[in-house]
Order: sequence, then C-alpha cells, then structure tokens
Amino acid sequence: MKIVAIVGSNRKQSINKKLVVFMKERYQEKVDIEILPIEDLPMYNQDDELSPLQVVTEIKKIVATSDGVLIATPEYNHSIPAFLKNALDWFSRVDKVMAKKPVMIVGATPGVLGTVRAQVNLRQILAAMGAYTLPGNEVFINAVNEKIDEAGQLKHEPTIGFLDTVMNNFINWIEKTKQF
Ligand code: FNR
Repeated sequence: MKIVAIVGSNRKQSINKKLVVFMKERYQEKVDIEILPIEDLPMYNQDDELSPLQVVTEIKKIVATSDGVLIATPEYNHSIPAFLKNALDWFSRVDKVMAKKPVMIVGATPGVLGTVRAQVNLRQILAAMGAYTLPGNEVFINAVNEKIDEAGQLKHEPTIGFLDTVMNNFINWIEKTKQF
C-alpha cells in the first residue's frame, strides 16, 4: 500500500518531519510511506495551472497514483502553514488529485493544544477538495519536545500506541473508501 506523506514544515529540524520518518520506519511492514518534495513546488498561480512547470505535474502524479495521503502539519498562527496550503492549492485544481483520496492527519507542536486549530482548519480545506479524510482519529501531539529523544525518535508510549491504532484505522479506511 503506497502512502504519500506531506510534511507541512520546510525547516530542516522539523518535528513533524521527524514524526513522519518515525512512522515510515515503524509501519514499513504495513505501508510504504514516501515523503513528497513539496518544497520543489513554485508558488501557486492560477495563470500557470493549465501549463505548470514539469515538477508540478510530476508531484501531482505521485499523489494521484498513491493509495492514500498522510499529512503532518504544524500549527502556524492557529492555522496551517502557507507552505502546506500552497501544495494543497496546486492539488485542488485541474486534475484534482486529492478528490476522493483517503487522508490521515497528524500534527505535533511544543505547545499545549497539539495543533487542534490547524487540524480543524485543514479538515475544512480537505472537505472543499473532496478528499476522504479519516473521520475522528485526531492525532494531536502536544508538548512534543518532551515526547521525542535527541535522535528524533518518539518515545512516549501512549502516543505511540494511539498512532498504531490510528494507522490501522487508516489502512481500513483506505479499503472502505474504495466502495464510495
Ligand atoms: C508557530 N508555532 C505555533 N505553535 C502552536 O501550537 N500554535 C500556533 O499557532 C503557532 N504559531 C506559530 C507561528 C509561526 C510563524 C511559527 C514559526 C511557529 C510554534 C510551532 O508549533 C513550532 O515552531 C513547531 O516546532 C513547528 O513545527 P515543525 O517545523 O517543528 O514541524
């Protein structure tokens, strides 16, 4: 099963990227997680959407041919980062590669609320795009600096257990949405 991961942070030491790398390793027997290079996408411009740069077409094709999408988002000013929104805007147009695509959301922050507000916002955006976001299963990882070690490995067992459950639910959701 091929899962494309979109990390909503473009910084080198991103905790959300570390989380996805952790998930890629932990669930490698179940799913193949590939991180999408959305940093290669130009700024979305409607003038270009019918004849975009080749890189846009290539990245959209990876999304289109995936079985599902995993989004790991930080919260920026109570919403999602523009970096992530830019990718989603490209994916929402012309061939609409996120329409009917199963999506799982996770988010981590050193803050208290675990990216709740960003994820509420993200679910609304994904609904507009016609994606099949996994209902419930809200992975809000707060105080993340206390939950990962120096190597970037998640070490907080309750969080790991919940992630295991949600990943299983997502795999089942991918199968279920084929009937929709
Ligand atoms: C933040 N941060 C943040 N955290 C949060 O919980 N709620 C918020 O609204 C914001 N707002 C915000 C705005 C901007 C511009 C920045 C740069 C940061 C803190 C944020 O959670 C923290 O920097 C994370 O480490 C970002 O995720 P990555 O890059 O580590 O994946």
